[in-house]
Amino acid sequence: MFLKYKLLLFVIITLFSYLGHNFYAQSSPSTLIIEKKIDSLLEIMTIEEKVGQMNLYNGFWNVTGPAPEFGGAATKYEHLKNGWVGAMLNVRGTEEVNKVQRIAVEESRLGIPLLIGFDVIHGYKTLSPIPLAESASWDLKAIEQSARIAAIEASSAGINWTFAPMVDVSRDARWGRVMEGAGEDPFLGSLIAIARVNGFQGDYLTDANTIAACAKHFAGYGFAEAGKEYNTVDVGLSTLYNTILPPFKAAEEAGVKTFMNSFNDLNGVPVTASTFLQRDILKDGWDFNGFVVSDWASMNELISWGIAKDKKEAAKLAITAGSDMDMEGHVYINELADLIKNGTVDVKLLNDAVSRILRVKYELGLFDNPYKYGNKIDEEKRTGSQAHHESVLDMAKKSIVLLKNENNLLPLKKEGQTIALIGDLANDKSSPLGSWRLASDDETAVSILEGMQNYKGNTLNFNNGPEVFKGTSTFLKELDINTTDYSGFKDAIETAKNADVVVMVLGEHGFQSGEGRSRTNLELPGLQQELLEKVYEVNQNIVLVLNNGRPLAITWAAEHIPTIVEAWQLGTETGNAVAQVLYGDYNPSGKLPMTFPRNVGQMPIYYNYKNTGRPTDKDNNVFYSHYSDVDKTPLFVFGHGLSYTSFEYSNVTVTNTYGSNSEVTVAFDLKNVGQVTGKEVAQLYIRDSVGSVTRPVKELKGFELVELDAGETKSISFTLTEKELGFYNNEQQFKVEPGDFKLFIGGSSETVLEANFKIE
Ligand code: NOJ
Repeated sequence: MFLKYKLLLFVIITLFSYLGHNFYAQSSPSTLIIEKKIDSLLEIMTIEEKVGQMNLYNGFWNVTGPAPEFGGAATKYEHLKNGWVGAMLNVRGTEEVNKVQRIAVEESRLGIPLLIGFDVIHGYKTLSPIPLAESASWDLKAIEQSARIAAIEASSAGINWTFAPMVDVSRDARWGRVMEGAGEDPFLGSLIAIARVNGFQGDYLTDANTIAACAKHFAGYGFAEAGKEYNTVDVGLSTLYNTILPPFKAAEEAGVKTFMNSFNDLNGVPVTASTFLQRDILKDGWDFNGFVVSDWASMNELISWGIAKDKKEAAKLAITAGSDMDMEGHVYINELADLIKNGTVDVKLLNDAVSRILRVKYELGLFDNPYKYGNKIDEEKRTGSQAHHESVLDMAKKSIVLLKNENNLLPLKKEGQTIALIGDLANDKSSPLGSWRLASDDETAVSILEGMQNYKGNTLNFNNGPEVFKGTSTFLKELDINTTDYSGFKDAIETAKNADVVVMVLGEHGFQSGEGRSRTNLELPGLQQELLEKVYEVNQNIVLVLNNGRPLAITWAAEHIPTIVEAWQLGTETGNAVAQVLYGDYNPSGKLPMTFPRNVGQMPIYYNYKNTGRPTDKDNNVFYSHYSDVDKTPLFVFGHGLSYTSFEYSNVTVTNTYGSNSEVTVAFDLKNVGQVTGKEVAQLYIRDSVGSVTRPVKELKGFELVELDAGETKSISFTLTEKELGFYNNEQQFKVEPGDFKLFIGGSSETVLEANFKIE
């Protein structure tokens, strides 16, 4: 009787808010109504149903982690019916999604809809450049638009939750996942995090073409020791607060609905069991009211880490620490109910976690219409449209970085030339899709060869050269890099001999970076370096087009090859973007979001390093901070990138009104001194000269992407406030410390203008 009354009450409240919601068509359901609905739902849920909400199951075909020991399809279907599943991942396509959604909504007792999560990392079907490449555009509007398109396509296939953006700052190119982030800088990373969250979540999360975002991996994963995947992380609180956390905080402030915790331990505590990170910082400190999902089976991994003796203990540690949802770990679903019933775990923790999950479901409007995310027609219409192709092409062009252009070998002349195009990757329609492209069809990228073939005025002679890898390439397995088969060398060299210009496409295959793909060698893989040197012997007019998901140590190339273009993995429209840049139909403006090293031994290398007590050599002896065998500077610095025109910076002025209105304004002139229109990313760095703790030699605190016609000058200004001038001291207090500051301005972190100011 009592239960019936509660159920009736729940139905009335749901109906009431449904009508209210429809009346105010686009507005979000009000917070108060949501909180009421959560409370009334909690009252009628059994412990098992509550635990079920915290259970995230993988679907039935694709896996994006180690195959689980438990839970075949039959168990999963049964649990769906019982209301013991809160969310699923890797189920996609409206038909498949609606099939599981229907079981949850129509066959389970309470009919609570599922969250449907997916790794929509840089697009769904129509792929944008990998996130590191997009970050090289420094174009926040374009990055937001890219996430918007990803959300439109994914939602039309039934998905309502993406496991993106990844906002892990990383300084170590050995770590394969740098491809998925925004690079090494917390300031740039924070702005990109906001752009991506806004793109995915849109203006109204209740809209059928917006999806919940997930800031991951919280926190420290990018600092895995030695760049080795899933490794231990030991960083001081200063690095944690000033470098690692800012992009997460920015995502939280932008309203991101979920966080994913990271696989690593942080200073001795695996993050899934870290109360410090998940409760003290995120939930209590930042007032985050969404939920935290574990990463794939990371609850079970508490046992391998050696901090839980069995799954029961793992479940207790995880829920106590604030991990709300278990991704394909089967730990909560098997252990948690007993722990609650026998009093080992406080039911308050359970209710808190479930409320957070239900809140996101209400905010998405899932209870109003769980089937709103697409249908077969939508899915076909909205995925792969012409407009989406144009948009990812635009993003791809913006992501390209011109690293070097001696003798203006680029842009290529459009007529009368013999161009040799060489490299296995040039003819590859799969590699440009990167490693996160689960929903995209194989071999659907425009290859660089295809892109170049659109320009008919020259003679284009293509030669594959040696294979980059043997066998097949997949998301799950290591690539077998070709280190022995030299067939293809002879023909490639012959093709290069008689060309006016040789375009060589070399680098990493798309499946050489990403999760589980750390490297200890950052040079061109396999036989490619040898090929480059052999071709150079017969023709030095080489344009090297790099494909890669991380900074590479291409020191020989930087010394010998006149022109180098960083073309990453640029997604579906790769070939068109590269060809348009090579032929000058698009003037490149990308800037590196990560430092390029001279060799792997320099890892980790980053621009915002500390000065040390011995930064330079005074007496021509060894007693200063350096290496004996390689220059300590980078090969290409953070923020570097050229254009087909050039820019001049001048007339810096500083207006310091910090004492009266807490602002310092910096202004300067930027002039296009070349012959063609071009875009420049004007960058502003500061240095807090004397701090209570050591401060970086430079910190990015402002940038503007400016387009200028040839000869045009623009005055640019930045305002620095407490937010830009302060930092976390070792007591974790954010403060602006009085004293001298330096300002640096230029087109890269190797700046050209300097000024000073003082905070009294
Ligand atoms: C593991 C990865 O670390 C995470 O980023 C991803 O979202 C999940 N697998 C789901 O595929």
